[in-house]
Amino acid sequence: MSSQKQTVLAIGGTGAQGVPVVQELTRDGKYNVHVLTRSTKSAPALELASLPGVTIFSGDGYDEANLHSAFSAGIDIAFVNTNGFAIGEKAEIYWGIRIFEIAAEHGVKHFVWANLESSYKVSGYQPRFRTGHFDGKQKVADWISAQPKDGQMKWSILTSCMYLEMFSELLRPSPEIIDGEEVMIFKAPVGKGRPPMIFLEDLGRYGRWLIDHPEKSAGLNLKISTEQVGWDDVVKGFTEVTGKKAIFKDITLDEYFASGAFPFPDTKVGHSLGHDDETLQTYRENFTGFWNTWKESVLLRDYAVLDEILPTRVKSVKEWMQISGYTGKHGNVLKDYSDATSKHRAV
Ligand SMILES: NC(=O)c1ccc[n+]([C@@H]2O[C@H](COP(=O)([O-])OP(=O)(O)OC[C@H]3O[C@@H](n4cnc5c(N)ncnc54)[C@H](OP(=O)(O)O)[C@@H]3O)[C@@H](O)[C@H]2O)c1
Repeated sequence: MSSQKQTVLAIGGTGAQGVPVVQELTRDGKYNVHVLTRSTKSAPALELASLPGVTIFSGDGYDEANLHSAFSAGIDIAFVNTNGFAIGEKAEIYWGIRIFEIAAEHGVKHFVWANLESSYKVSGYQPRFRTGHFDGKQKVADWISAQPKDGQMKWSILTSCMYLEMFSELLRPSPEIIDGEEVMIFKAPVGKGRPPMIFLEDLGRYGRWLIDHPEKSAGLNLKISTEQVGWDDVVKGFTEVTGKKAIFKDITLDEYFASGAFPFPDTKVGHSLGHDDETLQTYRENFTGFWNTWKESVLLRDYAVLDEILPTRVKSVKEWMQISGYTGKHGNVLKDYSDATSKHRAV
């Protein structure tokens, strides 16, 4: 029985996005999953290792020899979420394309690219939307889209968006005492914007759907989201779910960067590969494009398609707060973020 199982290689499988995809793929034993990671002893690697059908592979997903060795291990399907935020736009474009080529060399049958949409491109290249960690993934998606849809290696694109779980980490509210009462303050430079946001468990289900249905998903760019989230709905939902008072404070980008959202906003992104690259944006530049995108609601979704594919999907930020037991307290979401925080602590 087990020899008929297909094997999926997950690159980025230990991340916030990869973990629910791997969990979903292995929940009923249908797939074996190999997870490529630089650290086999990290908390997510150990958690995934305990799942039936999961094999943890030691290696760097941005290394030619490591990739060949990972793809040589009888891989049928690839789920690839490169970390553009860690390696920067230029390296993400290179490695996204290169990983596709290596997968094809090794006879992979289906390649799933975890994508983000470029608001810069969607807006007709208006510079205020330029966001390197969106644009690199989109350029790879565009290159993949130019490959044959029914070639030896089928491909699908899973275009996601900000995770709802970010409300527990980078978007979490801070308590303030107002008139003797604790009020949770959700601050963001988002105005009346309504960005698409996704519940990570549903992202895992959409990933599985693409992999389960190559006959429907080959050549498809599936753009997912839970809903277009307005911050007024966030505070309303928060109060209804928790019974606690909450306020949305719309702030300027200058206030946002001054608030310590990023400790060094004028350094360049791409922390993993070094910062001395002229092509890299600074955190300030990157996240200016990011927040301008959300404030002006540049990216939209077709929710009828999403309802059809996943009728049981979570449909609102309030519903997500209910089922996840959201309290506004801090929770670890991004592996990169906890790795950086623990490095800081160790220094
Ligand atoms: N935050 C959001 O709301 C959001 C939403 C959609 C898409 N994204 C995109 O998703 C990507 C990040 O994935 P994630 O959200 O799952 O983040 P994450 O939780 O921080 O996970 C980072 C992943 O990247 C892997 N990685 C490999 N080489 C790395 C390197 N040199 N430096 C840092 N990490 C490396 C890590 O693997 P090991 O450490 O195990 O090797 C881990 O699997 C980014 O491109 C980001 O733009 C983010």
